[in-house]
Amino acid sequence: MLARALAAEGLAPGARVLDVCTGSGMLAIAAAQRGACATAIDISRRAVLCARVNARLNGVRVRALRGDLLTAVSGERFDAIVSNPPYLPGDADLPERGAERAWEGGHDGRALVDRLCSQAARHLAPGGVLLIVHSSLCGTDSTLAILREHGLRAEVTVRRSGSLGPLLRARAAELEARRLLAPGQREEEVVVVRAAA
Ligand SMILES: C[S@@+](CC[C@H](N)C(=O)[O-])C[C@H]1O[C@@H](n2cnc3c(N)ncnc32)[C@H](O)[C@@H]1O
Repeated sequence: MLARALAAEGLAPGARVLDVCTGSGMLAIAAAQRGACATAIDISRRAVLCARVNARLNGVRVRALRGDLLTAVSGERFDAIVSNPPYLPGDADLPERGAERAWEGGHDGRALVDRLCSQAARHLAPGGVLLIVHSSLCGTDSTLAILREHGLRAEVTVRRSGSLGPLLRARAAELEARRLLAPGQREEEVVVVRAAA
């Protein structure tokens, strides 16, 4: 979804694209394949290495950096920032290590989404866009509100409904008890939020 949303932006060759929470590097690589000057960031050393190797295997250049969200690119601005951050609501604070770091989003799933939405505006070039994906269970309206508070024009541009994924399904009872899921609800919407500077 996010790769398609980025492609739809029709960025010029050489556009500066940042993929935050890059994991495998997939979105940065997709951007580089379209001629972007791509940077990828992840907090996991292994993910950074993986993104570097995958970029090489795909024959593109990606600047892969280790860091907490946008700290590694302090002072830099981009024409597009894309992110598929961890957003799974859980009953604990964010993990500091381990594979769970790829999906755990803190108590309401918004620990990283909120920070990213608050920080993005100062890393966007004039006319730049942030594209972020998450589940409707973590509160699409909150995402739009934070982005707008920071002066961005934010809207949901893609919605896809479907059954809860395996991780959310396994937590359904707990999420119902915490009123993050309506009783019996086993569907979610995955949304792409676009915010323009
Ligand atoms: C859901 S995965 C996204 C993978 C990939 N972007 C994709 O779309 O397939 C989330 C990634 O965020 C990374 N991550 C978690 N906390 C982070 C943080 N504070 N700063 C940067 N990356 C983080 C994890 O290591 C993981 O690779």
